[in-house]
Amino acid sequence: MKPGILITKRIYPEAIEFLKKQAEVDYEESDDGLTPSQLRQRLHGKLGVVSQVTDTFDAAVLDSLEGLRVISNVAVGFDNIDVTAATRHGILVTNTPDVLTDTTADFAWTLLMAAARRLIEGHHFVHSGHWTKWRIDMLVGHDVHHRTLGIFGMGRIGQAVARRAMGFSMRILYHDAQRAAPAVEQALGLQFVDQPTLLRESDFVSLHVPLVAETRGLIGAAELRMMKPSAILINTARGPVVDEAALAEALEKKVIAAAGLDVFEHEPQVHPALLRLENVVVAPHIASASVDTRRQMSMTAVENAAAALAGRRPPNLLNPEAWK
Ligand code: 8YV
Repeated sequence: MKPGILITKRIYPEAIEFLKKQAEVDYEESDDGLTPSQLRQRLHGKLGVVSQVTDTFDAAVLDSLEGLRVISNVAVGFDNIDVTAATRHGILVTNTPDVLTDTTADFAWTLLMAAARRLIEGHHFVHSGHWTKWRIDMLVGHDVHHRTLGIFGMGRIGQAVARRAMGFSMRILYHDAQRAAPAVEQALGLQFVDQPTLLRESDFVSLHVPLVAETRGLIGAAELRMMKPSAILINTARGPVVDEAALAEALEKKVIAAAGLDVFEHEPQVHPALLRLENVVVAPHIASASVDTRRQMSMTAVENAAAALAGRRPPNLLNPEAWK
């Protein structure tokens, strides 16, 4: 008999077909997701689950599961899973890195350019019929080229964002709990600085850290006050890395100039003040949303799951300690 696996939400069909060849698939073909109690119920007797960031696997859920061998998240981020608790239970946890690196970096740049050059305001201006004459200072924005980009988190995506900044002749500062290898710093022209220096000197601050205890609330009122009044904040990482209420207030009071946000503290809710402001570009958590990338994320996730179910070490294992 094939091992049982739950897919908690809709993913690309080719991934389902692939998995059906290896496992007995219980597919929740909807975009609604399952509550923790539904998850518990549907996971009864199953060896695996293909999950998404909206599925919570906290210690309480994990403690209540029996016999689960693998949680395969369709995302590079895994803050929805208590990996320590999973390891305690011997459950393998996997993610989908690499396939989304460039697509996500492209989108961080989309937000950066849109916010700096006031693209959305311009779009509305034309659509609403307000463009009746040409003015010398009509919708003037901020230059990107030759400015300073500050990157928090110099992992795969941070590096891809930096690589793109080289084409704009930017000075690139970064901060990370772990300093990048000298070869990486050299190849990308990176300057490692402390957090206050990054905040004070950057024209653009882009966040590429994972959401962990140390990065929750990384950017709050105090940090925003350290930034230049002309600075623009870009967040494609995770909402709770930024104190959203403090950001809304800073944008309202022009403590910083603008923001480009793909992620929010309580998705899909967005702080109402952010929606009233013209100097904020918002997107519904779509940084990795290209057709090819979302397909590849789906495939990578099911390949990880299938490997684990077959007793092979999954390619993107996050907790090798759980691998026996
Ligand atoms: C996903 C993401 O689209 O990979 C991540 O961590 O945030 C996005 O790329 C999202 O998590 C879908 O599950």
